[in-house]
Amino acid sequence: MKLTGKRCLVTGGAGFIGSHLVDELIRNGCTVRVLDNLVNGKLGNLSNHLGHENFEFFRGSITDPLDVQNAMEGIDVVLHLACLGVRHSIAHPFENHRVNAEGSLLVLDAAYRAQVGRFVYCSSSEVYGTAEYVPMPESHPTHPCTVYGASKLAGEAYARAYYRAYGMATVIVRPFNTYGPRSHHEGDAGEMIPKSIVRALSGNPITIFGDGSQTRDFTYVEDTAKALVAAAESDVMVGQTLNFGSNFEISIKDLAYRIAEMTGNSNTEIVFTSERPGDVLRLYADPRKFVEICGWRPQVRFDEGIARTIEFFRHHPLGLKGLIESESGRNWEEKYR
Ligand SMILES: NC(=O)c1ccc[n+]([C@@H]2O[C@H](COP(=O)([O-])OP(=O)(O)OC[C@H]3O[C@@H](n4cnc5c(N)ncnc54)[C@H](O)[C@@H]3O)[C@@H](O)[C@H]2O)c1
Repeated sequence: MKLTGKRCLVTGGAGFIGSHLVDELIRNGCTVRVLDNLVNGKLGNLSNHLGHENFEFFRGSITDPLDVQNAMEGIDVVLHLACLGVRHSIAHPFENHRVNAEGSLLVLDAAYRAQVGRFVYCSSSEVYGTAEYVPMPESHPTHPCTVYGASKLAGEAYARAYYRAYGMATVIVRPFNTYGPRSHHEGDAGEMIPKSIVRALSGNPITIFGDGSQTRDFTYVEDTAKALVAAAESDVMVGQTLNFGSNFEISIKDLAYRIAEMTGNSNTEIVFTSERPGDVLRLYADPRKFVEICGWRPQVRFDEGIARTIEFFRHHPLGLKGLIESESGRNWEEKYR
């Protein structure tokens, strides 16, 4: 099913990945509506589209039945990304569950009642917990380490149930880690790559939680957006659960040194401190099924993606002083919401 000309709803579309997905859908000739409560998303991420006739922004919550019902009106395809993140879940497990699990059920049910033609549920590699073997195919056990991982897994189960019980055309994808421009350096959504870039650029030490031997499989955000569009377009993926990632593993320690070097501040101090609660030790994707079905492959090499992300933060409107002031170290702790 080609998406060109389709009316798409992106929940969480003002966020990091969601806003790049909106860019990609518009490039593909879609009309896009975003439902986002801006708890972590930013309207600035959508500035290229605001006021254009092929784009609508609805400020509202996926936990509010009326907001969701209104957002669903006239929609052909739903790409459901809205959620609260992994660090948020450490101090706020119930709120995290309400948005990620119950909110997903609400969005699914509204989509079913509105008879949308395709529903993409954006899950996460966090549903696996730490790797028991690598690379990790979809059959790898799902033993999440956090309420975030567990609530994303609940959302998957609901999407699968709507396929099996009601024949709804749902596709479940499990992206591994994503990085790039518009990623969060701030608050409880802040992640390793943007935080480290901001720290290195502003002459501050990079902090590693644990010994840095944890590994991740990173995909550049424009490639993630393309993968989500490919998933929405694929008829073969309906009813399936599929990984996508770069199949490239890097340790957090190597990443920190690479970032320090690429920002031009190779003498940046790297500080090791105690582990983060619920931190997964190893994630490394086996995306072969996804690649075989739709032919998607990441286009942006890791160093190129990191260079683009550094440029994004170098020219950020907050400036380096504003960025470092809003960067938050131990961002899983209570004070962050
Ligand atoms: N970033 C990654 O590395 C990564 C990896 C795997 C999967 N994912 C998945 O990708 C999706 C997008 O993640 P992201 O990194 O862009 O995060 P993000 O926080 O930037 O985006 C989530 C968006 O959802 C919005 N939101 C939160 N609660 C809401 C609510 N109640 N109602 C409406 N909107 C709400 C936020 O404001 C934000 O704009 C998520 O589903 C996440 O699980 C992300």
